[in-house]
Amino acid sequence: MNTRDKSAPADLPAVEKKLIPYGGYYTNREPGHDPELTEVGPGTPTGEYMRRFWHPVCMSMELTDTPRFLKILGEELVAFRDGSGRVGLLHAHCVHRGASLEYGKILERGISCCYHGMVFDVDGTCLRVPFPAGEEEEGERYRCSIRQGAYKAFERHGLVFAYMGPPEEEPPFPEWEGNFTVAETDELVPYSNFQHCNWLQVQDNAADNYHTMALHAKRQVTGEHYQGTTFDEVGAASMEVPPDMVFVPIQGGRGLACSGARRSDDGHMYIRVQHQVLPNLSLHAYTSEDGHKKKLFGRFHMIRWTVPVDDQNSKMLGWRVMGPGIDTRGIGDKSLVGYETIDFLEGQVAMRRPERFGKYKLEDMPPIPSDHRARAHYKDAQYAPGDYEAIISQRPIAIHALENPTKFDAGLYMFRKLLRDAVRGANPQAGPEQFAQWLRECEGSPNSYCSGNVFELPVGRTTEEEVTLRRLLARQVVAILTESEKLKGEARTAFVKTKLEALQQDVLVKRNA
Ligand code: FES
Ligand SMILES: [Fe+2]
Repeated sequence: MNTRDKSAPADLPAVEKKLIPYGGYYTNREPGHDPELTEVGPGTPTGEYMRRFWHPVCMSMELTDTPRFLKILGEELVAFRDGSGRVGLLHAHCVHRGASLEYGKILERGISCCYHGMVFDVDGTCLRVPFPAGEEEEGERYRCSIRQGAYKAFERHGLVFAYMGPPEEEPPFPEWEGNFTVAETDELVPYSNFQHCNWLQVQDNAADNYHTMALHAKRQVTGEHYQGTTFDEVGAASMEVPPDMVFVPIQGGRGLACSGARRSDDGHMYIRVQHQVLPNLSLHAYTSEDGHKKKLFGRFHMIRWTVPVDDQNSKMLGWRVMGPGIDTRGIGDKSLVGYETIDFLEGQVAMRRPERFGKYKLEDMPPIPSDHRARAHYKDAQYAPGDYEAIISQRPIAIHALENPTKFDAGLYMFRKLLRDAVRGANPQAGPEQFAQWLRECEGSPNSYCSGNVFELPVGRTTEEEVTLRRLLARQVVAILTESEKLKGEARTAFVKTKLEALQQDVLVKRNA
């Protein structure tokens, strides 16, 4: 006899089963991650795409008197600065019989392998093979027949950048805005923050402007266990107001403008535009804005690449722009910016500040805790989680198929689409060849949409007027930046500021009409 109730959940369509009370059983299967966008090893679609761009691979301070072992894009590498000051980035395993060059000795020119003493130059040329006296000719023939895998690398403002693609396809290094918008009194301060997860979810976070209203707000802190993870602790509570977001693909689908409009007080509307660039760069506007003073076209506060270490680990490498030019409230703290630390919010890396600075100095390279649940400050992190906790706990590789996105996730979904189109060749403008060509056309110095703007605009008389205003401003700021694309430097800045001023006046005139 079949005793099975025909209305039992097993017979319901999957979509309804998902909604059954206590029905976790029906959603306990995990589909795989999206290999096309998340996997980055040699020969993978996104890995090959990424290899056509310059990326930071470590900080200059990591190059000491011993070689530095690195893993980047799934490849084991060794970085060093030789006695003549040149930076080498070589395959870690010696081309002779595989010993790691991290145990090698840095020489005036190049590096020697510890095992049999072969010497390699920064471009991979074998400089010396120690053969016995009288057999030098044979040694010379052997020397000329081998080459250590090498990648071109250089240093800039405390970061080591490398190009890991085919040499014949090397693109220009993009000097955004020529000088990364640094004012005379400002400084690019390098940092490296390790993330125990796939690179894409770290990049997703940069387009997720919505999370600040929860993760970085008072409501996320348990009890009174504040630890510097919230914006109101740094007097930038406007960042905790949920923004109205507009996402616009820009520059031929090579990037995305994420424009968020929030009210910072009854007299001010704050429009913050984040600029995401394929494949892994994000240009961030001022993060400590209180929004109480008019400010038009504030520029870079942080420049950040999310660099894959392997498929399950990544590093945020970049510069914090420090100084009065950008940091009008003087909130930045240079003494907290560096290896496994950054100043703007606690909870950006595995080790919390009491341990990071209790045991180590800024110039130290502390060991990175690998198991987030075994950390000394695990409970503290539960009381006041930061970006690190939220991002890495999405699983080592986030499973997109399990997500239930809201409209606020549109930005990161759009960015994933831009990436997919670029990787598949569906948008040739974002393909490596035309991307590099575009960089050459803008003389290696593209314009950025990154901007922070505080308008003097009183609250709308009705909710509808306020919502309409938010959306109009978010869209119009991006439109003005698009209009300014043909201009450069100071001429562009003047144009944008004039247009933003006119936009504010226009809104006021219309409102008073
Ligand atoms: S393994 Fe490097 S010299 Fe032999
Ligand atoms: Fe965040």
